[in-house]
Amino acid sequence: MFRGKMIEKTITATFQVFDNLQELPNSVQTLMQEAFMARDKAYAPYSNFQVGAAILLENGETITGSNQENASYPSGLCAERTAIYYTGAKFPNTKILRIAISAKSLEDVVDEPISPCGGCRQAILEYETKQNAPIEVYFMGETGKIIKANSMADLVPLKFP
Ligand code: THU
Repeated sequence: MFRGKMIEKTITATFQVFDNLQELPNSVQTLMQEAFMARDKAYAPYSNFQVGAAILLENGETITGSNQENASYPSGLCAERTAIYYTGAKFPNTKILRIAISAKSLEDVVDEPISPCGGCRQAILEYETKQNAPIEVYFMGETGKIIKANSMADLVPLKFP
C-alpha cells in the first residue's frame, strides 16, 4: 500500500501580556471598563460566572454583551457571541476593530485571564473573514493580567472550514 510522506506542521502565535490595565492605551482601558459594566448585566444564576464583552467599531460605536443563561442550559449564550451577533445585526457594514472581555465569578476571585471559548472564537473569526481585517482581542479575569491577541485567527490555529 502506498503511504504518502508525512510532514509535520508547526503553528505559532505571539500574544502580549500586560500586568494591569494602566499598561494599556487609554482607548483600550475604556473598552475594558465597558466590558466590566456589561459583565455586571450578565444573567448567570446557574454558573455564577459573569462575562462581559465590549466591541469597538471603526465608527466609534461600542457594542456590549454579557452571558445570558437559561434553565435549559445549552440555550444560553456566551457574552462574546451575544455582543458579536448584535454587532453584526446592527452594524453589518461597519469594521470591527477590537473586543475586550472580562470574566468574574461570584464564588471566588478570577485573577487569571479567561480566554474565549472555542465557539466564540469561531464566531468572531468569521467576522474577520467577512471584513477581511483582523479583530484585536483583549481578555482578562476580574483582576490581574490582560492578554492581547492581534487577531482572533491567532487563537484559532485551524479554522473551520
Ligand atoms: N461563558 C462566556 O460568556 N464566554 C466564554 O467564552 C465562556 C463561557 C459563559 C457561559 C456560561 O454562562 C458561563 O460563562 C459559565 O460557563
